[in-house]
Amino acid sequence: MAEIKTIGVLTSGGDAPGMNAAIRAVTRAAIFQGWKVYGIYRGYEGLINGYIKELSTESVSNTIQRGGTILKTARSDEFRTDEGMNKAYENMKKFGIDALIVIGGNGSLSGAQRLAREHDVTVIGLPGTIDNDLYGTDSTIGYDTALNTIVDCVDKIRDTATSHDRIFFVEVMGRDAGFLAQNSAIAAGAEAAIIPEDKTDVDQLAHYIERGIRKSKNSSIVIVSEKDGGAMHYAERVRTEYPQFDVRVSILGHLQRGGRPSAFDRILASRLGVAAIEALKEGQRNVMIGVKNDEIVYVPITKAVKIDKPIGQELLDVMDTLSI
Ligand code: F6P
Repeated sequence: MAEIKTIGVLTSGGDAPGMNAAIRAVTRAAIFQGWKVYGIYRGYEGLINGYIKELSTESVSNTIQRGGTILKTARSDEFRTDEGMNKAYENMKKFGIDALIVIGGNGSLSGAQRLAREHDVTVIGLPGTIDNDLYGTDSTIGYDTALNTIVDCVDKIRDTATSHDRIFFVEVMGRDAGFLAQNSAIAAGAEAAIIPEDKTDVDQLAHYIERGIRKSKNSSIVIVSEKDGGAMHYAERVRTEYPQFDVRVSILGHLQRGGRPSAFDRILASRLGVAAIEALKEGQRNVMIGVKNDEIVYVPITKAVKIDKPIGQELLDVMDTLSI
């Protein structure tokens, strides 16, 4: 592989707290090597349209504590087309970008993989998504902050749920994955979590209601993943099947993606950003940098995006045991 002198960095897909810490780490670690760094704005849209500016160490000052992404982000439909991808590749050549670092979730890393395959360019992925759904890494940048935000909100909802003797269905993000739902339910002491990974034939709602009635609980919190109709669906079911309960729904929405990144996410993003540059120095290409058992790992992007990351049975058991 040709020697690397210039890299590009972009954020793509849903923003996640800690993305700025990752941009900062990538930029500073690359400059430390004597490389030139281009910031690409609005994700792949910026690569297609040439919204590209050189970054210096100062460009990323005072950003580690900020949520969102200073490079902005987008979900690019054009990049999915051959024409869009060709334009992106042409801009990489025009700016002399030898390797592209993509910070994003499943869709963004799938795009990076396609670019690498079709144009033989070097890409490195950093897992940046609140969903924590990338295979091969214990955590993704933004997940910890979002989890803490949810727990904070649920603690508040608990006060009003208890005061009014109500059942609250709280819907959280996560796309197809239940990590945010399952772990926020454990951390907030919720009565149940309804997640897409639970594939048993047991009706999760009926199971929870029966338990609640057995305990004669008057109020409770059920965390529901956004998939398959989310909280509204379950609230409607309770209203028709168990009309004796007073039910409310709270959809937390995009507030889960905002806010200052937690210390955990800042450290994770800083480690992954520095490791991305190390990986390039070692001649790695088309891998996602992850952390497993606190060690940096390289995961082929094909695996990171294609294999489903399982939720451990132990977590399901903890929830089940503690919500009796
Ligand atoms: O992937 C991050 C995420 O926040 C998902 O949890 C959610 O389903 C989706 O993005 C929402 O996307 P948008 O902000 O484009 O509506």
